[in-house]
Amino acid sequence: MKRLLALVCLSSLVVAALVAPGVGAAKPVLKVGTSADFPPFEFQDEKTGEYLGFDLDLIRAIGDAIGMDTQIVNTGWDGLIPGLMTGNYDCIASAMTITDERLKAVSFSDPYFSAGQVVVTMAKDTKIKSVSDLEGKSISVQIGTTGDLVASDIKGVTVKRFNLAPDAIQELRNGASHACIIDLAVASQIAREYKDIKYGAPFTMEYYGIAINRSNTGLLKKINRGLAMVKASGKYDEIYDKWFAGN
Ligand code: ARG
Repeated sequence: MKRLLALVCLSSLVVAALVAPGVGAAKPVLKVGTSADFPPFEFQDEKTGEYLGFDLDLIRAIGDAIGMDTQIVNTGWDGLIPGLMTGNYDCIASAMTITDERLKAVSFSDPYFSAGQVVVTMAKDTKIKSVSDLEGKSISVQIGTTGDLVASDIKGVTVKRFNLAPDAIQELRNGASHACIIDLAVASQIAREYKDIKYGAPFTMEYYGIAINRSNTGLLKKINRGLAMVKASGKYDEIYDKWFAGN
């Protein structure tokens, strides 16, 4: 009888540990790959080294919703998909546009942000008004981005490819390229800091998604469920307002 009681007590302890969050073992960790060079979506705080931005707040909120802790792994943009495929992290949150080409290699969550490419030029430039004025010009881009893709399609252009997004903007500001093609919200953030550049209206329609290994269908479902919960709870809007208030 005593032994039975002890067994009952023990098993209820085990059950309590399983159902009560924070009581039992630590939460599972969601490892998130990002290229932290793309404010306001992902960047590193200069002083603290902390990883900040819309995407990272969003993936942390998704993690909370599905009972997972998040750990950020900062990797160069062009190594992000290979790193996901070799298992260095479980997903990618990096303002990554859902494209047919990428879908051949990875799965994407439901879209979480609508975006588009814009042409950034010097503020004093009066000749380049849109993409159609870019023929034969030199254009700086971040390597392997959708901006790189559209720039490479323009007739007679010289495409200057950079590992880091801010370096593509810097090339323009140095007078070494005629224009830079980059995502709208990033151009808008950078133009607020550097008054010597301007940007036009978006000329592509893109959606960002969280990339997940194609074999990890369980995680894909969880992340979609978490994203839906974060949207339904109002948390998504809160994060949106934090990073894009006044846009
Ligand atoms: N949206 C563009 C793409 O998917 C650029 C994303 C760049 N992201 C970054 N964290 N640098 O190609």
